[in-house]
Amino acid sequence: MQPDKRPENMQRIATPDLAEAFIAEQLAAIQAQVGERKVLLALSGGVDSSVVAALLIKAIGKQLVCVHVNHGLMRKGESEQVIEVFRGQLDANLIYVDATDRFLDKLAGVAEPEQKRKCIGAEFIRVFEEEARGLEDIEFLAQGTIYPDILESGPVKAHHNVGGLPDDMQFELVEPVKLLFKDEVRVVGRALGLPESMVERQPFPGPGLGVRCLGAITRERLECVREADAILREEFERAGLAGKVWQYFTVVPDFKSVGVRDDARSYEYPVIIRAVNTVDAMTAEIECLNWALLQKIASRILAEVPGVNRVLYDLSPKPPATIEWE
Ligand code: XMP
Repeated sequence: MQPDKRPENMQRIATPDLAEAFIAEQLAAIQAQVGERKVLLALSGGVDSSVVAALLIKAIGKQLVCVHVNHGLMRKGESEQVIEVFRGQLDANLIYVDATDRFLDKLAGVAEPEQKRKCIGAEFIRVFEEEARGLEDIEFLAQGTIYPDILESGPVKAHHNVGGLPDDMQFELVEPVKLLFKDEVRVVGRALGLPESMVERQPFPGPGLGVRCLGAITRERLECVREADAILREEFERAGLAGKVWQYFTVVPDFKSVGVRDDARSYEYPVIIRAVNTVDAMTAEIECLNWALLQKIASRILAEVPGVNRVLYDLSPKPPATIEWE
């Protein structure tokens, strides 16, 4: 296992050549650590877990068991992409769990933001644990821990995705990218042949769209956030802004306002657009979006997303706002 501290002379992995050298080194290290035994990985589809999965598939093939839990709070097309890339292209041993109903049932009526996070985190662990218990001979747990996770929170990835497993399910950890910074993980992911949309994926909170569907989550508003987010991402892509703006998304609050549709009064939800730039997420500036682009996105959301009658652009930097609304 590698140390928890990045050696002072460790070169920044910034080029494909350096990435290839890193990959070769890690393949040997993983094979030496794991041998013929089996490894389990919670594959969220985020950059870190995807790169770890691709590395392990290359190193040990089907000895890696990936579990992708769809908590129903993913963005449009994300779980499908995980299945297509890992099962379709990389021939991974992938277990796909659609736990949407389970999560949404648990979340029904839960409005307090921290309570929602806890509920999503706890349910995630429960689902993952159930899957893990059904498998035999697993001795290792792979994690997409990266260096900032170690610097911020000690040696185990402190994300809301996988908070930890019960005491009787202790595995030895496999953490091949734990000494890398995010930009280096992306370079390695590219060298491993992962699609650009996965390697360049913007940050996405563990609780997913759950923190962008404000208050108690309903299926109706969750669909509004998801569809509006898909339109926003599509238009950013077309405008060449994907990968340039740090984070952008939509939010749907839990109130309606009056509007007019088909010559009659209607009460429908607003969609809020947020687009920010930051270096470390501690402070953030808003992206000065082109007016014509904003208008285009707004008119598409109003025309294509059922139940929405207003679109707003959030002009608040962090501080005093935060990046997310909850
Ligand atoms: P805030 O809203 O605190 O967000 O300005 C800073 C960055 O952290 C992300 N974020 C989260 N990530 N679980 C996560 O894994 C969470 O509960 C969570 N809340 C915020 C946010 O998207 C932004 O990039």
